[in-house]
Amino acid sequence: MCGIVGVVGREAAAPRILEALRRLEYRGYDSAGIATLVDGHIERRRAEGKLSNLAGVLDATPLPGTTGIGHTRWATHGAPTERNAHPHGTPRVSVVHNGIIENHADLRAELEAKGQVFETETDTETFARLVDQNLAEGLGPEQAASAALKRAHGAYALAMIFTGHPRTLICARQGAPLAVGYGEGEMFVGSDALALAPLTRRIAYLDEGDWAVVDDAGARFFDIHDAPVEREIRLTAVSGAATGKGNYRHFMEKELHEHPVVLGDTLTQYLDPMTRSVTLPPLPFDPAVVPRMTITACGSAFLAGQVGRYWIEQLARIPVDADVASEFRYREPPLPAGGAALLVSQSGETADTMAALHLLQRHGQKVVAVVNVPESSMAREADGAVLTVAGPEIGVASTKAFTAQLAVLACLAIGFGRARGTISVDDEAKLTAALLELPANAALVLERDEEIRAMAAEVAKARDVLFLGRGTLFPIAMEGALKLKEISYIHAEGYAAGEMKHGPIALIDSAVPVISLCPSGPMFEKTASNLQEAAARGGRIMAFTDDLGASRLRAFAERVVVLPRVGAFAAPILHTIPVQLLAYHVAVLKGTDVDQPRNLAKSVTVE
Ligand code: F6R
Repeated sequence: MCGIVGVVGREAAAPRILEALRRLEYRGYDSAGIATLVDGHIERRRAEGKLSNLAGVLDATPLPGTTGIGHTRWATHGAPTERNAHPHGTPRVSVVHNGIIENHADLRAELEAKGQVFETETDTETFARLVDQNLAEGLGPEQAASAALKRAHGAYALAMIFTGHPRTLICARQGAPLAVGYGEGEMFVGSDALALAPLTRRIAYLDEGDWAVVDDAGARFFDIHDAPVEREIRLTAVSGAATGKGNYRHFMEKELHEHPVVLGDTLTQYLDPMTRSVTLPPLPFDPAVVPRMTITACGSAFLAGQVGRYWIEQLARIPVDADVASEFRYREPPLPAGGAALLVSQSGETADTMAALHLLQRHGQKVVAVVNVPESSMAREADGAVLTVAGPEIGVASTKAFTAQLAVLACLAIGFGRARGTISVDDEAKLTAALLELPANAALVLERDEEIRAMAAEVAKARDVLFLGRGTLFPIAMEGALKLKEISYIHAEGYAAGEMKHGPIALIDSAVPVISLCPSGPMFEKTASNLQEAAARGGRIMAFTDDLGASRLRAFAERVVVLPRVGAFAAPILHTIPVQLLAYHVAVLKGTDVDQPRNLAKSVTVE
């Protein structure tokens, strides 16, 4: 994933690159580095760990120069040490890279045979040395970069600078996003428009396979065959204002408390409160006749997609396949003529989901991205985009973006049901009313904070935790487990409550909290019975339910948190909030890095 930045500017480059990297730190925080051209030569500063460490290095040993490149790393090849930190290169060329050069081992062997001596284990150094070798053999920067790009297989966004060329930067894109920014007599390059927002709002995106020469004269773009191409300059709507934590301790806490507003903002895009009906956004397929749908995504976004599958099948009677994108892309699924697909993604840049998008389009499916970043690759490349209105999500663990995804999928399911005549106007009004009450009910859930914090104090002592749910609450049980794993590093599993007796029940003892999502409704009795089976074996049952379910569960549960009663349709959205809050409080109690948990990054642009 990694974030990259480049500047051909008129003032000191390093502070501007550092600021842009701060806005890209969500893409990785294992190490960071900057290289600039100083008197025509390359100089660099690098540091292991977060960007604040690099800032310290730059304070101690400032880096002059007005042209430069920078990088914030999520380690793929080579440990997250200063030695492996980008930029990589030689005295002739310096390179920052997001992605993986898959044939790096072969290239490395070839370059070593030619006398190149490597300093690191990174795939990026292989690319830098490939360019260096071309330069050593007499090619100029453009030819050296273009020839190297032809040899590199895999995914990359790259930016490079060259000794002796103090006002030039070359960049390239293949499977990872890259934007060129136009300033007043200055040029910029960045992984996304957000990074460049304080510098310029005029942005051109590289297409797949493009490379560009960026200098004082602007940017010259070339396609994969080196043919000159034009890329449109657009005015980005992304704000340059830094997103702050307000009075909250962590971005995650702030984002959890934004649930009511985000749900309100997202739902009112697609629901009319007066008529209690759904207004479907423009779609590239007709839901009334579509024979089958595919939903694919990664991580939490996939779990939102799984809830979407239940809803679309139940309300619109459309058969839906839901798959994690990393499996879908290699599963060779038969896809019907006239089929449609939904991709779900906060960032709109996730590499596996992007690959699924391309595969679906190659197989004639009409693809709609349910996405939070309007200018993301997915929003631009899909046949249609339906936006979640969650605003920037900075905490690496997804919270408000996830509930916004659920809100959009709920609206689509109702709209599809109406289009197909599988639900009535009355049904639509009831379902819509339940959704419209969610912002207020979400605020009530946040008021249970103290109770959830008390539950967290127990959960924080555990080594393993089970989350159980049925129906649309099953994916939410998995979301609860995923969130707990991600930020507290406690092992957790989410299971379908009815599946527990087929294996996981063997894990139950008095040390394993069993957290269940058990609102009243058609599945309540079944889930309650499953919980009683666990209680009978000494399991410590902790339940989220509503007023109708509370007394039945109190008979055997150690803790019961009573949430507003919202009905079966809206329950998965509401029940997401307490499991996310629980994970947050456990992480705080354990003292982990809540907003930037170890080994993770927010936008996963590698396979
Ligand atoms: C979990 C989380 C991840 C993402 C996944 C997909 O808290 O945030 O599992 O959901 O990496 O990312 P997007 O939604 O950007 O495609």
